[in-house]
Amino acid sequence: MATTFFETHADRRAQANPLGIKGIDHIEFIVDDADQWRDYFVNRFGMACRFYADEATGVRGRRVHVVGQGRINFVVAEPRGSGPEADFLRWHLDQHGNGVRDVAFRVKDARHALEEAARRGARIVRGPDSHETFNAGSIAAYGDTIHTFLERKPHTDFAPGYKPVPGSFEDGDIHFAMIDHVVANVEHMEEWVKYYEQVFGFDLFMHFDINTGRSALMSKVVSSTDGWVKLPINEPSSQNSQIQEFLDRYQGPGVQHIALLTPDIVTTVAEMRRMGQEFLDVPESYYDAEFDQRVGEIDEDKAELRRLKILVDRDHDGYLLQLFTKCVFARPTLFFEVIQRRGRALGFGEGNFRALFEAIEREQARRGSL
Ligand SMILES: [Fe+2]
Repeated sequence: MATTFFETHADRRAQANPLGIKGIDHIEFIVDDADQWRDYFVNRFGMACRFYADEATGVRGRRVHVVGQGRINFVVAEPRGSGPEADFLRWHLDQHGNGVRDVAFRVKDARHALEEAARRGARIVRGPDSHETFNAGSIAAYGDTIHTFLERKPHTDFAPGYKPVPGSFEDGDIHFAMIDHVVANVEHMEEWVKYYEQVFGFDLFMHFDINTGRSALMSKVVSSTDGWVKLPINEPSSQNSQIQEFLDRYQGPGVQHIALLTPDIVTTVAEMRRMGQEFLDVPESYYDAEFDQRVGEIDEDKAELRRLKILVDRDHDGYLLQLFTKCVFARPTLFFEVIQRRGRALGFGEGNFRALFEAIEREQARRGSL
């Protein structure tokens, strides 16, 4: 009888997580200048250099830095030399400018994940790539974005041909633990919600319609059953929507923003600002009496939040603090979010869309009355 119980238990677990996903392993950016973007993440995000690869280390067509902090790994790759890989990277840059190519997941068994994803309707674009200590394969996602599934033995290098970079340290005042969520902008939200439900076994976690003067969008969030992987998917619902602007400038669907989870947003944002990182302009009026009312009692010093221009949003189970960088690349496409969750806050800062919009309106009204 005991066997039956274990089989059932295992079956249920397989149903809830059919691809055996353990978490987001890394995000790969294709960029025009790998050194420049390595320096950017080191100097503004306090990341350490972790790995390096090029032709000399055994990787053809690309020059790559892996930077990171906590469980976050960012891969910045530029084209190098000739051959199919270099050609592809150049094509991607030409098409999209700098941007995200791969949202890669660590899995229990990469070969199984790839086969199961294909069985569930995904299109395989790479692999399986099998080595003694490393297995990987990739499927197509929205636009030219892919999802790689990878599995590496403990204490092995990032990937075959990637060499560790010794002696690089994280900035002690910038605290990032993991990726909180990765947001996609697409043309047809429902199609991609279905894709994550069918292929990944993810659940529809929440949805919202946001309509302010400047930006109308619909968003649905899919998440892994354990809640650790959260992927909001946006669709524009007006022509002047910032989502439509992204689709136009990126020339198709892609990653709009990556939210990095911090246990201490006040220290982190203070240090990032000191290092020269620019954030979204938050009008002074955001911190008017409406702020106190909406946010209520919080642990942080409100004067400090106002000074650092950190946003706060309350939901049923707690509150979150967040702030968005300005778009980082030459095209106005991708930005980052710094987020801290308090209590059991599960939201994404929906309330801040309205609060920011109203703050700007109050500011305009005030200017008008001068
Ligand atoms: Fe976000």
